[in-house]
Amino acid sequence: MHFVSGSTPRVGYIHRLICPRIVVMSSRSSLYLTTPIFYVNDAPHIGHAYTEVASDVLVRWSRQCGADTWFLTGTDEHGQKILRTASANGVAPKEWADKLVAESWKPLLDLINISNDDFIRTTDERHETGVQKFLQKLYDDGHIYDGEFEALYCVGCEEFKPKSEIVDGSGAFEGEKVCKIHSKPLELLQEKNYFFKMSAFQDRLLKLYEERPDFVQPASARNEVIAFVQQGLEDLSISRTSFDWGIPIPWNSSHVTYVWFDALLNYLTAAGYGNDPEKLERLWPATHIVGKDILRFHAVIWPAMLMAAGLSVPEHVYAHGWLLVGGEKMSKSKLTGIAPNEITDTFGADAFRYYFMRAINFGQDGSFSWEDLRARYHAELANGFGNLVSRTIGMNNKYFGGVKPEQGELLAADTAIVDLVASAAAKAEEQMLKFQIHEAIASIWEIVDALNGYITEQEPWVLAKQEEQLPRLGTVLATVTEGLRALAVLLHPVMPDATEKLWIALGADQAIGALADQTIAEAATWNQLPAGTELQPLPVLFPRIEEEA
Ligand code: ME8
Ligand code: MG
Repeated sequence: MHFVSGSTPRVGYIHRLICPRIVVMSSRSSLYLTTPIFYVNDAPHIGHAYTEVASDVLVRWSRQCGADTWFLTGTDEHGQKILRTASANGVAPKEWADKLVAESWKPLLDLINISNDDFIRTTDERHETGVQKFLQKLYDDGHIYDGEFEALYCVGCEEFKPKSEIVDGSGAFEGEKVCKIHSKPLELLQEKNYFFKMSAFQDRLLKLYEERPDFVQPASARNEVIAFVQQGLEDLSISRTSFDWGIPIPWNSSHVTYVWFDALLNYLTAAGYGNDPEKLERLWPATHIVGKDILRFHAVIWPAMLMAAGLSVPEHVYAHGWLLVGGEKMSKSKLTGIAPNEITDTFGADAFRYYFMRAINFGQDGSFSWEDLRARYHAELANGFGNLVSRTIGMNNKYFGGVKPEQGELLAADTAIVDLVASAAAKAEEQMLKFQIHEAIASIWEIVDALNGYITEQEPWVLAKQEEQLPRLGTVLATVTEGLRALAVLLHPVMPDATEKLWIALGADQAIGALADQTIAEAATWNQLPAGTELQPLPVLFPRIEEEA
């Protein structure tokens, strides 16, 4: 991501005198982040929610780094896949899409607390006109020609499959050629199409991957893309004539635009391409978060399209791994999807967000397991974090009448906490910049563990029995309370609800300001919550969940 903010450790006052805060808010401190636009052939499962959450965490984090952010998500509504699903259900495709968007896709965003700024549908007028402008430009500039074509097509992928992804079928499809991803038979299509001269961009693409090693991430994805392009690029069929559910080709309306060519352009049409040049100037180029199933479209076809149009290629394309079921990609078409609300109904949105970001290494595949979710929920959220919060607030109530006590002289154990908060925050900042979400959360969690250890060692309940230890007790509880303040800020992008509850319980919204306005760069600056701040009642953050649930 191209936002930068200070990552020097900031250990409060003294450190600041020696090293005046260098918060490098460069002119590039902006982030236009996108998710894929999802097919509306069916309702979302936790794989789609996973992409949404990861993207949301990155955007919320960047916002708290002071970056100028814009977060786009949406739906992909044209093409054969949607047309066939709608027909099978006896409705027109637009009617089908409207229903799925209203009843399933938009509600998903509320369910898991996604803070998108815009939602684009490929049936939006702004999109359709933008796509036609783009096509006309490429046509006028000589990047498009007409030709004849015959190849094996996968409707699940909406793609003419490259040889490497055509395999022999088994079971019901014995003897047929099937798609490696969908395990369904391919269809031999023969049509007169328009073609985009993508092969002309092979060398420029290879140069791009070479010169900007962080263009495609992680490294495994980059290697795959380079190997694919090195094999040689063919031109791309960009129109279809056998059905009409798509955007008409502007110079020949008997063709509709190939659904992927249409879909990729959402990132531009939502950013004002063709109607709002100032907005486009502010937002472009984007950073795309996608699943590795659609890496090639984003890292090969898409930059080639942009090059042809004379526009900048994306900032980054980050391909994350798959949620697996029985070792295979969880999918709508294989009916292996778990609905997100099956998890949130029991565990809540915050736990959903935390679990997937923490338990799966971002960039790699991971298997979802109810046992692991339940175990982490109890160990890390209910006991580790929730208990730390309720114990601390409880002791402040019991020993100091519900206010944050004075911090007295700091001993080594206290300074160690102050330092650890600063170093954990700085580490997390670096890791988030590299899309290492799971690592960043692990760094922040060092604070949770350290505070729990500190309480065990300092034994505030023992100090409380000795009158003369009252100042020391105050210092200990002030230290933990301040640690919680920092945790609320650092964990806000991951768990917006629980941290908001914590923030209010600390009295911090009154004493400091809105949680979402707290910067990551200042998170570790000590003693922001004034002594004497009145604490508020704390709701249970992560209630215990009965076995059967
Ligand atoms: O491909 N694990 O839409 P789509 C992790 N419309 N992520 C998963 C997943 C899984 N098992 N299953 C799905 C399309 N996803 C096109 C995109 S973009 C211009 C057009 C997520 O509905 C992941 O982000 O098939 C994956 O790339 C995306 O859903 C595919 O969604
Ligand atoms: Mg798919």
